[in-house]
Amino acid sequence: MNRFENRVALVTGGASGIGAASVRRFVAEGAQVMVADLDGEGAEQLAIELGAMTDTFQVDVADSSAVDDMVKATVERFGRLDVLFNNAGIVSTGTVDSLSDEHWKRIIDVDLSSVMYGCRAAIPVMRAQGGGAIVNTASISGLFGDWGIPAYNAAKGAVVNLTKAMAADHARDNIRVNAVCPGGVETPLVADVVASRRAQIEYQRLVPQGRMGKPEEIAAAVAFLASDDASYITGHNLVVDGGVTVTTGQPNFTAIAERWWDPLKN
Ligand SMILES: NC(=O)c1ccc[n+]([C@@H]2O[C@H](COP(=O)([O-])OP(=O)(O)OC[C@H]3O[C@@H](n4cnc5c(N)ncnc54)[C@H](O)[C@@H]3O)[C@@H](O)[C@H]2O)c1
Repeated sequence: MNRFENRVALVTGGASGIGAASVRRFVAEGAQVMVADLDGEGAEQLAIELGAMTDTFQVDVADSSAVDDMVKATVERFGRLDVLFNNAGIVSTGTVDSLSDEHWKRIIDVDLSSVMYGCRAAIPVMRAQGGGAIVNTASISGLFGDWGIPAYNAAKGAVVNLTKAMAADHARDNIRVNAVCPGGVETPLVADVVASRRAQIEYQRLVPQGRMGKPEEIAAAVAFLASDDASYITGHNLVVDGGVTVTTGQPNFTAIAERWWDPLKN
């Protein structure tokens, strides 16, 4: 597939995990890609590997003027901007009663405000060139609560609804805005979980597909939403989670039932 030939994509958090897999996917499908990340060295390494289709921009997505510069640099380098993937993010643990103001604000700035900054900078460019596609990385943690990561839950929940609001506002500009909601994915962000045997057993037990996701599996969904294959899809949250959110959260009856309930016997 060459869905992104002659198109330009900007990927934040592009040096690692889901972002890096998406950069690879966009390049494989013909795009020129700006790899933006706080980790400038990581971005450079990926760009060296992928060659002339890519360039890099070191950015803290929590800094709105740096985000403006990132979008400007992308247009200066490649001449246009067709796809913005707002993906950079961090996670932190701590229940609400333990969070400092600084902790809370950093999560909200990096995981939520960054999405607004990126869209605010990109939308005028896309509108002027006749349209574009934006994909935001939310999370299944934006759809439900988890234990011990309330700031992240709040930020990702807001990304889900911000995505819908921007989708409505900019549909007539021919700009589609969608979100991807990954479940647990094997990336450096959750290295502790990936490395923990206990966590892997839990994922096996709780996820209907029995495992964590791979970054490439999220990248495939991102590429779909960013491509013309999704031309009539906007404001959608595409859940990519091996089925973990299809259950109610009750125990797996098939695993624990001593006998099957029989409607004919009651
Ligand atoms: N891995 C998971 O299980 C999972 C699940 C759901 C959602 N997500 C989301 O996916 C996105 C990507 O995460 P990942 O799992 O690929 O993690 P990752 O740590 O592998 O990659 C995140 C990248 O973002 C960069 N980054 C962090 N803070 C930044 C900042 N302030 N400015 C610019 N770049 C910054 C990091 O340097 C890193 O390269 C995040 O938004 C995360 O919340 C991840």
